[in-house]
Amino acid sequence: MKNPIPKHIAIIMDGNGRWAKIQGFKTRIRGHEIGVTALRNAATHASEIGVKYLTVYAFSEENWSRPKSEIDALMSILVRSLSNELETLQKNGIRLNAIGNLDSLPRKCNKELQETIKATSANNLMTLTLALSYGSRQEILIATKSIVNKVLDGRLKIDDINDISFSKELSTYDLPDPELMIRTSGEQRISNFLLWQSSYAELVFLPVLWPDFSRVHLEDAISQYQKRNRRLGKTSDQIEMNE
Ligand code: IPE
Ligand code: IPE
Ligand code: MG
Repeated sequence: MKNPIPKHIAIIMDGNGRWAKIQGFKTRIRGHEIGVTALRNAATHASEIGVKYLTVYAFSEENWSRPKSEIDALMSILVRSLSNELETLQKNGIRLNAIGNLDSLPRKCNKELQETIKATSANNLMTLTLALSYGSRQEILIATKSIVNKVLDGRLKIDDINDISFSKELSTYDLPDPELMIRTSGEQRISNFLLWQSSYAELVFLPVLWPDFSRVHLEDAISQYQKRNRRLGKTSDQIEMNE
């Protein structure tokens, strides 16, 4: 039997720079700009087909080591896109959310982000989470410190530290785990994205560069996911017998 459409899809949107180079642009920036259009289309399509949560890797903690000119351009694209895309978010019932070290973003970026999050907070067709200045190891360390503090001041017992209580300390505390993780551009790695949350996600690696990502690619990834045998530790026989 086919798996149902995933409730939560995570995407590592990779390949903007290579796309710009192949197209003959002098800088990588054009790739990031067209990448925003690809994200708009992916989010709209995902919400139309019933995906409830879409989480996209837009800027990693490690991306701060890129040249300042590229970081500045990315941040200004982010500010511009947040205001330009508000109408699309509202029209499609998409709630915006963000995870990552948001305090490290330029003040203007964070302000625009918080305003868009607030403006879309009543939308309930799909939650679009932007991972910005995000690193999964950093997130796990923050959660660990919070748990240790709770134990030290008596708010939590060591025996109550488990899968569920740990998940609640992560920035994704209000999101289910993604069932499907897609990475574009042909690279086959996770690059510090949702390490805890994707422990049982199906991974789909597509050769398409992110600016070229379209509905067809989303549907291809979902159809690959639907054909996977998700055993979650059980045997195939158990799955067939619905145990
Ligand atoms: C992904 O595309 C976007 C970000 C990481 C911000 P890249 O900028 O990594 O593009 P490539 O991988 O160099 O082609
Ligand atoms: C991962 O892409 C981060 C984002 C897509 C935002 P990178 O291009 O930064 O990843 P690596 O460095 O190739 O692993
Ligand atoms: Mg890349």
